[in-house]
Amino acid sequence: MSSQQPQQSLRPIEQNSYLLDGKLTTHLGSTEKVYSPINRLYLGHHPKLTQTEALAILNSSLRAWARGRGEWPTMSTSERIACVEKFVCEMQKERELVIQLLMLEIGKPLPDSEREFDRTIDYIKDTITALKDLDRTSSRFVIEQKIIGQIRRSPLGIVLCMGPFNYPLNETFTTLIPALIMGNVAIFKPAKFGVLLWAPLLRAFQESFPPGVINTIYGDGPEVIAPLMSSGAIDVLAFIGSGKVADILKKQHPNPHRLRSILGLEAKNPAIILADADLDLAVSETLLGSLSFNGQRCTAIKMIFVHEQIKEEFLARFTLEVSKLKVGLPWEEGVKITPLPEENKCNYLRALVDDAVAKGAAIINKQSGGGTSKEDNTTFMPTILYPVTKEMRIHNEEQFGPVVPIASFTDITTPIDYIINSPYGQQASIFGTDDQTIASLVDHLVNQVSRVNINSQCQRGPDAFPFTGRKDSAEGTLSVSDALRVFSIRTLVAAKESPINKQLLSTITRNHQSKFLSTDFLF
Ligand code: G3H
Repeated sequence: MSSQQPQQSLRPIEQNSYLLDGKLTTHLGSTEKVYSPINRLYLGHHPKLTQTEALAILNSSLRAWARGRGEWPTMSTSERIACVEKFVCEMQKERELVIQLLMLEIGKPLPDSEREFDRTIDYIKDTITALKDLDRTSSRFVIEQKIIGQIRRSPLGIVLCMGPFNYPLNETFTTLIPALIMGNVAIFKPAKFGVLLWAPLLRAFQESFPPGVINTIYGDGPEVIAPLMSSGAIDVLAFIGSGKVADILKKQHPNPHRLRSILGLEAKNPAIILADADLDLAVSETLLGSLSFNGQRCTAIKMIFVHEQIKEEFLARFTLEVSKLKVGLPWEEGVKITPLPEENKCNYLRALVDDAVAKGAAIINKQSGGGTSKEDNTTFMPTILYPVTKEMRIHNEEQFGPVVPIASFTDITTPIDYIINSPYGQQASIFGTDDQTIASLVDHLVNQVSRVNINSQCQRGPDAFPFTGRKDSAEGTLSVSDALRVFSIRTLVAAKESPINKQLLSTITRNHQSKFLSTDFLF
């Protein structure tokens, strides 16, 4: 695609349909217009459903699940894998368009948009491989204390999947695909931005899965999600977004003990730069960690603590690197800072900066535009604040934007106390070269956060690694293999080791009479 401007070739997507019960159903009611954060370019519209359609969707999902007796939940693993393989094939055909929409709808730079698409395809393929492995280990009987058992994993029911706007494709698929492939049925609601990019995929869903196995829902949460949650029919909530919304949704369920939740919520990952850190590494990794995709990653480094002894040099070098970041439009070669999709985001970031300045911080990269936004008020220039203290909002609030707060320390208890007292507990990065110091810091931090990165930025990948958080940052663990587990429950068939039971089990497996009781090996 190179630096071609996608809006020149893309016509507005007037999406009037949503996927209901295997059909692309036309919505005659109101629609929601979608504008790009880039020059408010009109991109198209999508349906804005109401409670009536939401309940029709729920009924379709209930029929597909059929209390666990539907076609999909009772299908063999290999048949379900075949459907997902078909979907992946269809999805790949839409690569170009989805990437264009990622750039236009959320302002994600071209290489990052391409990575998001390709990583998602890899994730789906890896999920298939992981499921085959899981199935192979369960395709045998075990005998314990004279009891024969076959232990497998079964689906949980109806999963409501809601992804975030910063990774609208990837993070949604990291819950949607494992949920589906394990035999659950899914209702999927796109994030607040990055909605139209699902339009080209609806047909792929329709052609790959039986009716009702996946339904899509569009509209305002209180209108369309509240009736689903309060019906009590949702078995699993897979939600990536704010803790506030997650709490509202969970409280709407009449039987909270029944509801399983997989949540990816706020984070305020700190970087700690020790006096003996390799500064080249510390600068390049904190730059990537704090400012890639404008700092709009849940895993972004959102607070930096640098040792007093090296603070001058770190600040000078970090500031120089920030000044080199190209600000522009997503398809421009080498661009790093792009327009932000959230309305009023620049005003919010400016308020954070003003608050910090009023309380004694300086914008140390004023010369290269720090603290300002472009004329359109959607691009916020990367802004470095120093010294940041605990009275400032930016010290604790998740900025989710290109503002980098930096504090210095002499005593390591300062950043450690920050982490201990933080309501969040996703990840931390530590930069240093002394083995004893690093070892002791690691031991302090592993009970505070879920991933400690040494001389490396915070990040989710590789997707085979567990991704989770403590405290207010997450519930449940995702990775290619963990996701298969969270969307299923262990179920076993057990029989006392008597002659009649042995005879029964061997006849059933030999004649392939059951999908669960089976010793078939999935190749
Ligand atoms: O927004 C949160 C994403 O899961 C971060 O993923 O670390 O690969 O950018 P990433």
